[in-house]
Amino acid sequence: MHTSLRRSTSGPPALAAVLLVLVVLAGAAVPGSAASAVPAPAAQAAGPWWRHAVIYEIYPRSFQDSNGDGTGDLIGITQRLDYLERLAVDAIWIAPIYPSAQVDFGYDITDYQAVDPMFGTLAEFDRLLGEARRRNIRIILDMVLNHTSDQHPWFIDAARSRDSRYHDFYVWSAGKLDAAGHRQPPNNWVSLFGGSAWEFVPAVGQFYYHRFYRQQPDLNWRNPEVERAMFAAMRFWLDRGVAGFRLDAVTELFEDAKLRDAPALGGTNAQGDPNLSDIYTKNLPEVHDVMRRLRAMVDTYPGERVLIGETYLAKTADLDAWYGGPKHNELHLPMDTLVGFGNRLDANTFRRRLLESQTELHDSQPLLVFDNHDNVRSWDRFGDGVHDAQIARIVAALLLTTRATALMYQGQEIGQRTQTPTRVEDVRDPLGVRGWPRDKGRDGERTPMQWDSSNAQAGFSTNPHTWLPVTANYRNVNVHSEAADPGSLLNWYRRLIALRRSNRALREGRMVMLDTANPSVLSYARVSVDDETVIVSLNMSAQPQTPSLDLVQAGLHGSHLQTLLSSPDPLSRGGAKEPVSLPPYAAWVAELR
Ligand code: GLC
Repeated sequence: MHTSLRRSTSGPPALAAVLLVLVVLAGAAVPGSAASAVPAPAAQAAGPWWRHAVIYEIYPRSFQDSNGDGTGDLIGITQRLDYLERLAVDAIWIAPIYPSAQVDFGYDITDYQAVDPMFGTLAEFDRLLGEARRRNIRIILDMVLNHTSDQHPWFIDAARSRDSRYHDFYVWSAGKLDAAGHRQPPNNWVSLFGGSAWEFVPAVGQFYYHRFYRQQPDLNWRNPEVERAMFAAMRFWLDRGVAGFRLDAVTELFEDAKLRDAPALGGTNAQGDPNLSDIYTKNLPEVHDVMRRLRAMVDTYPGERVLIGETYLAKTADLDAWYGGPKHNELHLPMDTLVGFGNRLDANTFRRRLLESQTELHDSQPLLVFDNHDNVRSWDRFGDGVHDAQIARIVAALLLTTRATALMYQGQEIGQRTQTPTRVEDVRDPLGVRGWPRDKGRDGERTPMQWDSSNAQAGFSTNPHTWLPVTANYRNVNVHSEAADPGSLLNWYRRLIALRRSNRALREGRMVMLDTANPSVLSYARVSVDDETVIVSLNMSAQPQTPSLDLVQAGLHGSHLQTLLSSPDPLSRGGAKEPVSLPPYAAWVAELR
């Protein structure tokens, strides 16, 4: 699930070229209704808001520190809402803010219906909701259904006695005795975060199962009480007005009831454990009953609440079941992690994966993602060390011009780099402490947001001791300086998002692949129901390329291509029938008339 691929970062970002030939104006903001739980959809878009949304992930520890303790907080997020409004995102997903033992930085929850004091208070959360609503920004919370913290009162009680009313909230096994009479775990399952997935508790004489850290015991979803408790927690937040949830590790809710040994696949992983098949620990069919009931519960709320899934799956077609197939009655947006995390920059692979997401999901809406708090940043994964700044613009164009809901991650829009620790003593993520040096953990993609160069903390904090160090390139790579530079990556993102909001074909049109045998350039059209057509060509090679679009053969009408956006800019002045020539890693977006 966590891509451990790490490559070296490159030099300073390429400086901008020139102003756009054609300036595309942002869709006018539509005032939200203060009375409704969630704001009115942006622009005059058809269908539910999440179908054409841009969702922005906030890792709250690293977004904005308002009280100088070196860690981000809710007031900090509220202070930065104007920035998000200007970027024109529709929603923010905030990684867990609940009280937590903070072993996994919030993903080990001790209370599902409160705010961790390090992030603020419930009143501050409500204020954030209200301020976001005023700006037509929805708030999506992270919901960790698979496990709690071992410090959650349920687990503390469950581990005290087998008679505890919470004992059966967790997955227990007596294990088995080896030849020497020693008690051993019931099977060979390993934790995704290293070592056996079973931990013995002498007080009850049993092992409990943990898919992640041993401080994150798995909940037992075969117990209906667990479902009741977790649905109640979600209602608590839905009642307050959140727009939905991103469901953490939702593919892992069920395990094989017989606890059978996992087949070995050969070799070892970055944590030094044997590679095992996950047929008994992931994506079990039982989970879909829960998803259908969850969808039905969420659908009782007004305002198009949304369920997003953290769904790392082996192939695109596997995602279909998570939407509920042709019935569309499970998650609205299970993440397609294959496009954004499973590829090198290769036109053929992207074409195949994108085509699958358009044809194998019963017309459900794909959700694309290239960056998050668990993976090496796209800048470093796709960059070649020479054309990184151009390549980052291609990634942005892929995310924002294909037929998909777009999920982005703080810092992606300014080209923040992955800052992997160089000494094990600096590592904060336990995954990196345990896995060092094979797996250096996820600190690199979690460094503080780079706002400006007003102080050595990049405007993130006034405290010189931020919880993770600020990356040294903040003097050039920051929101303030990029906002002032028309050719910056930030302004490329802003223009793409504005175009996507204002252009019907890009917002909701179908997608037609073009020039499908071209190994270097990915080209496609977006076509609205009224035949408004936008053509996109992305040169994924280090050589100039001239695609051959053959629009007539693709059934597209029009004889004149007018550039809407291009990188580098300008690519071609005035109109053309074909993109003349695309420089290395060029991105070209044009309207067909
Ligand atoms: C998800 C989260 C990750 C966390 C894990 C366990 O993968 O994104 O950060 O460590 O679940 O909750």
